[in-house]
Amino acid sequence: MLSVRNVTKTFHAGTVNEVRALRGVSLDLPDGAFLIILGGNGSGKSTLLNAVAGCFRPDEGEILLDGQDVTRWPEHKRAKLVGRVFQNPFSGTAPTMSIAENLALAARRGQRRTLGWALSHKLMSEIRDRVRELGMGLEDRLGNAIGSLSGGQRQALTLLMATWLRPSLLLLDEHTAALDPKSADQVLRVTEAIVKRHQLTTLMVTHSMSQAVNLGDRIVMMHRGSVAYRFAGADKQRLGVEDLLGRFEELRRREMLDETAASLLEETYV
Ligand SMILES: Nc1ncnc2c1ncn2[C@@H]1O[C@H](COP(=O)(O)OP(=O)(O)OP(=O)(O)O)[C@@H](O)[C@H]1O
Ligand SMILES: [Mg+2]
Repeated sequence: MLSVRNVTKTFHAGTVNEVRALRGVSLDLPDGAFLIILGGNGSGKSTLLNAVAGCFRPDEGEILLDGQDVTRWPEHKRAKLVGRVFQNPFSGTAPTMSIAENLALAARRGQRRTLGWALSHKLMSEIRDRVRELGMGLEDRLGNAIGSLSGGQRQALTLLMATWLRPSLLLLDEHTAALDPKSADQVLRVTEAIVKRHQLTTLMVTHSMSQAVNLGDRIVMMHRGSVAYRFAGADKQRLGVEDLLGRFEELRRREMLDETAASLLEETYV
């Protein structure tokens, strides 16, 4: 269960570069919920995920995870509860280490190194089984360096690593955006399978309307640091790509009206 309560974050407050990245965002995600986060560039999607991951402390508001107030927890402490996958396939794995070594590291996160640090037969066979389930044929290449793999293969493995210890929360920030369409589809299938298998509570940022329509059980659309629209339940299921595009258009029109109103006010009062 994740609760984000009225979280605000302003970067460079009080300077000419001030950005109000989050303006009072609230979310309640029950266990196993899969939220898709949409929104234009700079609308605050990544900042919201970063706030949840603990990259910075919000200026105001609270973040609760599994019934604990984690607002003041440092990032490394929250990392035990949170799995993350970013857009860049080169982040999140050690490129010169093998597939097996990377996964073994993920499997042993938080354990003391002295406890049987060599790859046991049991762990090796579990690694092989889970890699086979990805359906990419990588189970025969466990000794290969991660750096020698394609972006899609790396993202699938990063997902496996991020979820190996079943995190309370999975954060995906445009994790297929840097991939070609075929690899992106493959990684999405893997994402769906892993989320379903472990019943993970998931936040996924995407710019793809078709991903938003086809995945997840709820959507928020962000605009200028706030949640502009929310869809869940039957409303979410009924939603089509055209409906979402319509909402984007609405936000764009509202923004133009705001700008026109602002410049009119300026003309009146200056
Ligand atoms: N560390 C930071 N320092 C200063 N400004 C920041 C920082 N992080 C984000 N911002 C600003 O906050 C606003 C929201 O950024 P954010 O990265 O959350 O947008 P986004 O919705 O993820 O956009 P995109 O779709 O382009 O990834 C932007 O104006 C951005 O420039
Ligand atoms: Mg972003």
